[in-house]
Amino acid sequence: MKITKSVYAVSGAFYDVLGNVYAIRGDKGVALVDTGEQTAAEVIEASLAQWGMGDLPVTHVFLTHGHMDHAGSAAYFQKKGAKIIVHEKDAHFLRDGGFPEGTTPYGSDWIFPACEPDIIFREKETLEFEDFRLTAYPLPGHTDGSTFYEMEDVRERTPDGPGRTVLFTGDTFYFDRECAEDHIVLCWKGSPDYDPVKLEKSFDFAFRQFYPDVILSGHGMPLLANGHEVICAAARKFLNTYR
Ligand SMILES: [Fe+2]
Repeated sequence: MKITKSVYAVSGAFYDVLGNVYAIRGDKGVALVDTGEQTAAEVIEASLAQWGMGDLPVTHVFLTHGHMDHAGSAAYFQKKGAKIIVHEKDAHFLRDGGFPEGTTPYGSDWIFPACEPDIIFREKETLEFEDFRLTAYPLPGHTDGSTFYEMEDVRERTPDGPGRTVLFTGDTFYFDRECAEDHIVLCWKGSPDYDPVKLEKSFDFAFRQFYPDVILSGHGMPLLANGHEVICAAARKFLNTYR
């Protein structure tokens, strides 16, 4: 699914696979935001080919967090040459290949091929490469290293103004008209590092900071309008009903 001039959904809800995966088309390569579960690599590669990116290498993988349904194919793409990028607090998921046995009731179902991340960030940082420029905002809560990434689609620039702003939000919340009465689904609370106090601070930051044109989350549907309002609604829902 093509979402903006440079951003595509290449696996996930739209392909009946767990965990949304987005591709950012550069001039010389492709970046992925998340990789879906282990079996998603095949779907991702087929989608890239379908959208005319089959000949471009996947050079970077920006992970919103380290859960199996987002980082499951990271090792696969690293073997093919991609740099794996993740917040330092979620790097252990990559090194361990998920939850170590015994740490959660989900242990054996949540394992995936391990890898050593290539690029680790700790604080808000603009990650700039030849083809890609994304700002990482660490927003812990769902996991300790959960991160939003913000980018401008430079292919959409006109003489009159900038391209649309795209915000990748991972699992902190997502938008799904099919799933929730108010269309907002808040994150799963089952991770051993889930922290509602940090999540409250993250929502408090997010609704002050972000006015995106497009929100692309780890599950559910793309949101192409009312981005700031939906972030505010997610924050309100969290404060009122979820903590
Ligand atoms: Fe998650």
